[in-house]
Amino acid sequence: MALRTAVPVNTLLNIELIGIPMKMKIILLGPPGSGKGTQGEKLSEEFGYVRLSTGDMLRDAVRKETDLGLKAKSYMDSGGLVPNDLIINLMKEKISSLEKGTGIIFDGFPRTTEQADALGSQIDIDLALNLDVDDDELVNRLTKRRSCPQCNAVYHLLYNPPKKERFCDKCGSVLYQRDDDTEETVRNRLKVYREKTFPLIDYYEKKGNLVTIEGIGEINEIFDEVKKAIR
Ligand code: AP5
Repeated sequence: MALRTAVPVNTLLNIELIGIPMKMKIILLGPPGSGKGTQGEKLSEEFGYVRLSTGDMLRDAVRKETDLGLKAKSYMDSGGLVPNDLIINLMKEKISSLEKGTGIIFDGFPRTTEQADALGSQIDIDLALNLDVDDDELVNRLTKRRSCPQCNAVYHLLYNPPKKERFCDKCGSVLYQRDDDTEETVRNRLKVYREKTFPLIDYYEKKGNLVTIEGIGEINEIFDEVKKAIR
């Protein structure tokens, strides 16, 4: 009689799930320009995660001149951080509005230990992914970045140009340069990052869920490393 190996249904299901990390809560850490938005967008597209970018939310609030936008604008223009209480309330509401078990990518949040404590008291984080890039490369990336005001896609004039000059590949809107992407403001954002956000690397390392990835190289190669880390 031929020997047949029966593979339990659960095992088959698990094999399928190996390639599709579901429902994780992932923080993208890293300095301004390290590629959090770029990689976060790719993760969201490939795995159906919800990407919560505090920077995109704030820029939208500034454009619509909401109460939050009016309060946040001067901090953003100078490259400083918007006060913790405003950001923590904003994110608490966003997270509560999502269905339980949704996979979430946090892009640009938390940025201070107060924000990290607040997030940790609301949900459990599975992974903090730190993208490591040196300052000269960051300045080069940010001063040549172009962004879409409609769908928030990001491009780089040299490394990741849109197919049609000045227009978003995804939604066709006219691209713009962010007000805080001038060299002077970028240098201040990097300074603020070192003072306020860099300590979060140690914070998540101590919690045992930090993975650092070299953020320099081809965007798709970095994305492969990101996927390895979350698998
Ligand atoms: P935010 O919008 O979060 O800005 P940021 O953290 O400074 O990050 P960036 O969006 O500038 O960069 P990124 O890492 O997403 O890089 P990207 O993928 O775009 O915040 C803006 C402001 O809002 C803050 O300064 C603050 O005032 C306020 N704020 C936001 N959150 C806050 C919070 N939690 N608390 C308080 N205040 C808050 O890539 C950059 C460029 O590089 C692009 O052109 C891209 O095409 C290119 N690129 C990406 N990857 C590569 C690669 N591998 N090789 C070459 N080029 C690449």
